[in-house]
Amino acid sequence: MKPMHHKEIMVMHNQQQVASRRNFIKGFLAGGLGAMTISPRDIAAALLSGKTPSDVHGWGVEPGQVKVGGNENPLGPSPRAVEAVARHLFSVNRYGGGTSDLIRAIGQYHAITLPDNDGSDRRSRVQDEMPIMVTAGSSPILHTMATESMKDGAEMIIARPGYTEPALSWTRYRDAKGLDLKIRGIRLDKNYTHDLDLIYKAINNNTSMVAITNPHNPTSTIVSHGQLKDFVDSVPPHVLILLDEAYIHFVRDPKYKDAVHIGLENENVAVARTFSKGYGMAGMRVGYGIMSPKLISRLKVHMPRFNPMGYLGVVAAEAAIGDTHHIEHSRQMVQDGEDFLAKEFEAMGFEPIPSHSNFMWVDIKRDATVFSQALRELDVSISDGKRRWSMDQHVRITIGTRDENEALIWAMQHVLS
Ligand SMILES: Cc1ncc(COP(=O)(O)O)c(C=O)c1O
Repeated sequence: MKPMHHKEIMVMHNQQQVASRRNFIKGFLAGGLGAMTISPRDIAAALLSGKTPSDVHGWGVEPGQVKVGGNENPLGPSPRAVEAVARHLFSVNRYGGGTSDLIRAIGQYHAITLPDNDGSDRRSRVQDEMPIMVTAGSSPILHTMATESMKDGAEMIIARPGYTEPALSWTRYRDAKGLDLKIRGIRLDKNYTHDLDLIYKAINNNTSMVAITNPHNPTSTIVSHGQLKDFVDSVPPHVLILLDEAYIHFVRDPKYKDAVHIGLENENVAVARTFSKGYGMAGMRVGYGIMSPKLISRLKVHMPRFNPMGYLGVVAAEAAIGDTHHIEHSRQMVQDGEDFLAKEFEAMGFEPIPSHSNFMWVDIKRDATVFSQALRELDVSISDGKRRWSMDQHVRITIGTRDENEALIWAMQHVLS
């Protein structure tokens, strides 16, 4: 029998779910007194249109759980990645072939000319000339930029609210080693976008690192390529700049230019990329940084010398990066989902800001923790802006599959009523 593509399995699965929901409603209407034993939640589910959490069986989660808080890709990984893992599963008793093939595949994907591997004696020199560093998720790029820029009296600049992992690397060291490290959170502008002018003004002689997440997390906004380039050009070269492009595959504008060449051309800039989001491989832990070989050699000091990458993640990433169809499919699902959710949120009286990522930042005009917990009781998990970012009335919602989005809306309507 021909193996089923995961999308075919999904269609079959959804058809089964539609049938079971229809049966439920039929039984409910015909059930008379028997229907009295059905909970108010089930009745509301039957009367409102769309799916409910119990209808949803997402990839990688328990049936009935709607997990829209972690900005993961609900479509799962590329089938090519799954096939590569299956093919190599029985070889994990070996260390594997390292990361050089993956680095070449990444180079080809970004059209970066890499130094040739022309013989074993030059091999380690070629490695040292590579502008790509592969890591277990992109987090090690964020962390090593933070550790490399750490020194007594130094300051880091990061947006507020923002993705604070690099700052957290500093606070850990500060608490453990008693270093004097200052983190300056610079507020976003009124459109929830990085205020690059304000960030520039905050730079002083002690500033050793600036972190820019573009598209931004948690607000899903972008800065223009020109603004980013001008900003990088104006920052003094002693300041390390992290350009975190974890969500770059979801930018709405197809002509939007990424920062790869900025990373290649500036010795103080690292561009971080991940297989966790667009590629649907968060659990595989593969990411990479694009930067000058000189900066790579500075960051490598903070990494284990022996290859820390899992063999299966490496082969999966190598297979996934060529699957442009999967990325395109994921992007389309996210954009359709955003269109759907934006209308539903507006109907609820909220004003979602346009998203350039696979998540939406929504002012829900009420306590975010109470709201998130109420959704949790209905098996829907979102990200609570009050707890995570001290934004009392904001939540971050990952765009899911159509079923997940409908179930989320059902649960939100339920909570709001
Ligand atoms: C902006 C941003 N950067 C980096 C990461 C780290 O992801 P990973 O280590 O899985 O690549 C995340 C994870 O959520 C993120 O949101």
